[in-house]
Amino acid sequence: MARYKQGLAFRYVQETKYLRERSPRDDLGSIPSPARFKIYGEAKSFSLPQPDFSESADLWQCLARRRSERDTTQDPLSTEELAKLLWSAQGVTARAGPHLLRTAPSAGALYPFETYLYVDRVEGIPQGIYHFQVADFGLALLHEGNFNHQITAASLGQPVVRKAAVVFIWTGMMLRCMAKYRERAVRYIAMDLGHVCQNVQLAATGLGLGSCPIGAFYDDEVNELIGVDGEEETALYLVTAGRLK
Ligand SMILES: Cc1cc2nc3c(=O)[nH]c(=O)nc-3n(C[C@H](O)[C@H](O)[C@H](O)COP(=O)(O)O)c2cc1C
Repeated sequence: MARYKQGLAFRYVQETKYLRERSPRDDLGSIPSPARFKIYGEAKSFSLPQPDFSESADLWQCLARRRSERDTTQDPLSTEELAKLLWSAQGVTARAGPHLLRTAPSAGALYPFETYLYVDRVEGIPQGIYHFQVADFGLALLHEGNFNHQITAASLGQPVVRKAAVVFIWTGMMLRCMAKYRERAVRYIAMDLGHVCQNVQLAATGLGLGSCPIGAFYDDEVNELIGVDGEEETALYLVTAGRLK
């Protein structure tokens, strides 16, 4: 058998297939299910303005014009623009029992990820690392300061990250999804985050901003920056946002 077929990627896909003739292998034992979303109750909080949608963008134009833009200016974003990007990512749009349904779909409505931000330049919001409080539509300040060098270095030095006004950082909450979907959870977390990132890119296009997804980064450097363990919660995906030239 070709060596690449014995590697993790092939084995993962094969071993997590649902097959009529067999149940998926499962020797994981019991998996604790963490809270539906994280709350940083002690942190200084910043509320965000509820987005005003009176100026609407045309969906078809946004789909046609969406691009990954890497050349953004030093100008800050407004708080309203940041609020719209966050709402596009994870705005709560309905409730169904215990579930806070969002702008993007999620397997089992589990939303097995958390949204963090590095705010470099947003009017009215100090520079720093934040966690997005999904239920309150606000930001919890985790570390105030300029972390541009650290986030850029962690992203393999990519200039798009250095130039960004804001960097979104999504972590996977492994157990939140594994408690229900067991080994198959990794597929779903990746799918979920793809939907979320696309929402942000479409919203950025609608606002005339530039955005770029970032999958290439030193995982544990990003984990350290946002203060997560890199196992049960680990950084999986970033997207930059900034003002276009
Ligand atoms: C999962 C994923 C990871 C990506 N990682 C990076 C990255 O680390 N750096 C970068 O400049 N672009 C990255 N991109 C952007 C792609 O290069 C871009 O989507 C592709 O070239 C197609 O261009 P378009 O998005 O403008 O249509 C990533 C895109 C995806 C979907």
